[in-house]
Amino acid sequence: MAVLADSNDNELEQLQDGGEGFTVPETNSFGQTFRDYGVESERQKGVEEFYRTQHINQTCDFVKRMREEYGKLNRVEMSIWECCELLNEFVDESDPDLDEPQIEHLLQTAEAIRKDYPNEDWLHLTGLIHDLGKVLLHPDFGELPQWAVVGDTFPVGCAFDESIVHHKYFKENPDYNNPAFNTKYGAYSEGRGLDNVLMSWGHDDYMYLVAKENKTTLPSAGLFIIRYHSFYALHRADAYKHLMNEEDIENLKWLKIFNKYDLYSKSKVRVDVEKVKPYYLSLIEKYFPEKLRW
Ligand SMILES: [Fe+2]
Ligand SMILES: [Fe+2]
Repeated sequence: MAVLADSNDNELEQLQDGGEGFTVPETNSFGQTFRDYGVESERQKGVEEFYRTQHINQTCDFVKRMREEYGKLNRVEMSIWECCELLNEFVDESDPDLDEPQIEHLLQTAEAIRKDYPNEDWLHLTGLIHDLGKVLLHPDFGELPQWAVVGDTFPVGCAFDESIVHHKYFKENPDYNNPAFNTKYGAYSEGRGLDNVLMSWGHDDYMYLVAKENKTTLPSAGLFIIRYHSFYALHRADAYKHLMNEEDIENLKWLKIFNKYDLYSKSKVRVDVEKVKPYYLSLIEKYFPEKLRW
């Protein structure tokens, strides 16, 4: 089964150093610069078609139905590590930067953060688990279509910001013409807090629900990173500030740090899974129950 990772076809990003002691690789697995969808790529058309479908179908009503359905957490019981292994069955097909099993990406992200922020163990674990919601693509989780699992995310229930990739396709979204949802605030109000804003449905919001409902002890910044790591309009374009509260503003600093590692770690640097596994098992034990409801 194929998985599309956090895809976005913004223009080529100028990558900067991810932090002291962490060398940013200059090329990805294919020897190209990162997130360079401008390169003649047979994937590029697929990515645009992906966003067309996503933008048309991610309505307020759809998100509410998915949250209600998946919020039941009545599908599977398993540990965090078991979920890492389940996800590892998938190989990414549509992300131009990633051609490794998912578990490599998860551990690369976590290990790169660990190197630069050795004392923030919650951030290491956040790196490991941030993409586990991609199990939504698995038959046991309803085998959702890719547009309902991956790709950039954005708020629904208020106007779609112009900075969102392929914004033009929102014109075919029913909410686009709904006066309750197509203004700056839409269904929300100033400073309401992003926790109270519905996000397009995907692996981010699902994993956030799983972590929260299973009573993780991760700090709020960890949950914030999980829920908004594909929300590029927020952490790249600084859009939707008017919906944020003070805690969001604090947590956004961590998300911006995290995102560098999420992106840069899609590289050829290999991680010895068996060697680092005991460390991550100890973090899982610290912040999560042994078995989680999914
Ligand atoms: Fe992700
Ligand atoms: Fe990721």
